[in-house]
Amino acid sequence: MNKTTFKYLLSKIPKTEIHLHSEALISRETVFNILSRKYPKYQDFNEVEKLFDYKSLSEFIEVFLLIQSAFEKDSDFEQLFKNILPYLKRNGIVHAELFFSPSNFTRNGIEFENMIKVFLKEIELIKNKENIDIKIIIDVSRTFGIENAMRNLDAAIKCKSSDIIGIGLGGDEKKGPAKDYESVFKKAKEHGLHRVVHAGEDVDSYSIWDAIKYLEAERIGHGISAINDKELMVYLKEKKIPLEICPTSNVFTKGYIKEIEEHPIKKFYQKNVIVTLNTDDPVFFNVELLDEYWNLYTKLKFSMNDIKNIIINGFNSSFMSEEKKKEYIKEINILWSKYFKNYN
Ligand code: HPA
Ligand code: ZN
Repeated sequence: MNKTTFKYLLSKIPKTEIHLHSEALISRETVFNILSRKYPKYQDFNEVEKLFDYKSLSEFIEVFLLIQSAFEKDSDFEQLFKNILPYLKRNGIVHAELFFSPSNFTRNGIEFENMIKVFLKEIELIKNKENIDIKIIIDVSRTFGIENAMRNLDAAIKCKSSDIIGIGLGGDEKKGPAKDYESVFKKAKEHGLHRVVHAGEDVDSYSIWDAIKYLEAERIGHGISAINDKELMVYLKEKKIPLEICPTSNVFTKGYIKEIEEHPIKKFYQKNVIVTLNTDDPVFFNVELLDEYWNLYTKLKFSMNDIKNIIINGFNSSFMSEEKKKEYIKEINILWSKYFKNYN
């Protein structure tokens, strides 16, 4: 099967994306418009393009935050949302759990409530127009300390929106140990919010253990350093804690792998650790969800049947209702026999 056919057929299959940063769905043109407005250096488009090359997770996060530092008004967030729906549609995504990281915006004086209002309005418009469900996970962030994270949690709780379903811990893993955020995650649990944690992306497996033991993470973002810890592999499998795998992201941030062929996702899959496939930051890593599935098929030698299982893992690992999961999985099975009956 060639890439065009593969992507065309796979776009017809309902999929989830459960590790996706909303700020990373901005277009490069919007990045240019927003950055050049604030920083004269970025009036040269080549200077903007140069930003999208990173030597580490820390460097990537600096770029991520630099762009956010130039956001000024509500309409900047509307610009951001303009790209979300086309991205989800192009990739056949029917359920997205989107991270939103308010820290750098609120530090610049933009009100959490105003930003969230834009998000909730856009989500509602999308829900009414398309059969696509978007839920928000507030990334309280490990980059700016515990008080900031607690403020983010409190703001999320105050919103009382059923579209805000949980909190996450993103940011610079080397600078912000998961266990420092125990009180924030405990309070989130008390308020019925889901908890996911970026861990084992840039730091060894103790970080994943900490995310599980101290933060009661329900899913692990990345988690690739677990591959070097036999005990943890067994634990993840037995406790059915899913990994939100983002292969291209890991190549860009260079923590454990240099090329996608080195990615441990196949080993996790073969050892029955639950893996899901995601892009993390599409515009920053120049990748879309269908490209990542193509990478699994061609570079990591997954069969089409494995790919179907990973798509189903995405639904089962999501925070949608059990009833909806069943409906989608039934639909996938029907469509799979229609489009992929000659491939296994
Ligand atoms: N790791 C941590 N923080 C992030 C990431 C990531 O991969 N993407 C956006 N924020
Ligand atoms: Zn991420």
